[in-house]
Amino acid sequence: MDIRQLFLGKLKNQKVTVRGWVRTFRANRFIALNDGSCLANLQCVVDFEQTPQEVLEEINTGAALEVVGLLVESQGKGQQFEVQVESLAVLGASNPDEYPIQPKKHSLEFLREKAHLRVRTNTFAAVMRVRAALSFAVHQYFTNNGFYQVHTPIITGSDAEGAGEMFRVTTLDPTVSSEETDFFGKETNLTVSGQLEAETYAMGLGKVYTFGPTFRAENSNTSRHLAEFWMIEPEVAFNDLDDNMDLAEDFIKSVLANILENCNEDLTFLDERFSSEEAKKPQAERSPMGLLERLKFVIQNEFMRVSYTDAIEILRNSKPNKKKKFKYPIEAWGVDLQSEHERYLVEKHFTSPVILFDYPADIKAFYMRMNDDGKTVRAMDVLFPGVGEMVGGSQREERLDKLVARMQAMDIDEKELWWYTDLRRFGTAVHSGFGLGFERLVLYATGMSNIRDVIPYPRTPLSASF
Ligand code: 4AD
Ligand code: MG
Repeated sequence: MDIRQLFLGKLKNQKVTVRGWVRTFRANRFIALNDGSCLANLQCVVDFEQTPQEVLEEINTGAALEVVGLLVESQGKGQQFEVQVESLAVLGASNPDEYPIQPKKHSLEFLREKAHLRVRTNTFAAVMRVRAALSFAVHQYFTNNGFYQVHTPIITGSDAEGAGEMFRVTTLDPTVSSEETDFFGKETNLTVSGQLEAETYAMGLGKVYTFGPTFRAENSNTSRHLAEFWMIEPEVAFNDLDDNMDLAEDFIKSVLANILENCNEDLTFLDERFSSEEAKKPQAERSPMGLLERLKFVIQNEFMRVSYTDAIEILRNSKPNKKKKFKYPIEAWGVDLQSEHERYLVEKHFTSPVILFDYPADIKAFYMRMNDDGKTVRAMDVLFPGVGEMVGGSQREERLDKLVARMQAMDIDEKELWWYTDLRRFGTAVHSGFGLGFERLVLYATGMSNIRDVIPYPRTPLSASF
């Protein structure tokens, strides 16, 4: 029986068996045992006079134990139940001189170097439980709303975003030049997005979504970028951009509401952690809300919807722009927004999540639907405080001639994407979708500040350990 279930109290005054890892052992008497099922430790009270010295000596932080004893209401403060130990076995010892996760506060940077053990800390265990709950919430949301999950390929021959940030997949030995043909007989890479394949399935199943790993060889060593991350990509036939914005907003609100309901213990812990981290920052940089407070705020309030053109006006007239505080001042319509601009819009101007839409065609991907003005496309980005871009999506260009013209103008390989243009030949229709970076969602939901701390084993430039 796991500790989370024991805390429900149904087995009170009964003999129970628990297995877990020692967090602390105090006064030769009190073991705080954790099995990962929940944040709280189970206090196990040892009768040290009846326990052989060599066993007591092995009860060190990190050791795996099996404890058998009576589950009773606790007299002590801090916990409702405890176990009076009748027998105890050390399943796996842990040398206290070598085990790095000691019961004290370790820095996140230190713990990144020990990524195989960091999940044995309260913070990482809480983050990873919330991550798992969010993942489940994603599948629940789509299943409840009539979407089918599709498993799009991880190895592809196309560059869905046309940005050239791909990892090659090859069986050829790069150290020998040979005439051998490569495994697939053509150049292949790890996918940067499942969107194009998802579109083909939306045009048959109607409402689909993908949830899989994506890979980007962009050399941005920031706290928001990973080289390997998980993306959720819904795609819906007959949905236009407004429907797409509605879906993104409803989806985000729904999964956040789900974890607020189901991860109360972990989120309360992370809320306290968040507040103490924020308190260390200068006043002007602090989040105006606590973690739980801002999650509730997001769920209860409408996201602001603003066109790119209006956003540029707001930014151009903003104080930091006039006082030349932006590293990249906004001079003219058409520039791509930097994260400093996105942050100004969400954190200072609107103080809420914002959906920007109708971006200049020149700064967006080839597949987005051209507006009648001939210069903007039906794109949307959902921006969040602290995180920046959480979602990127669009209505897709469903008109064959327009799509082909865009592909040619942007030097996209039409031959490779013959099947994608085919969709516009046979039963084409308005459709749209978006991609949500799962780690950015976890980052926001847990109040962590570095994306490397919300995925078990982060892959970033010059780092692929574990
Ligand atoms: O905006 P992006 O590049 O959009 C697409 O890939 C579209 N094909 C999605 C679609 O319309 N189906 O990426 C989508 C999201 C971003 O908004 C961001 O949250 C996340 O993926 N993302 C990253 N997350 C972590 N590390 C990176 N390097 C990321 N690049 C994008
Ligand atoms: Mg984007």
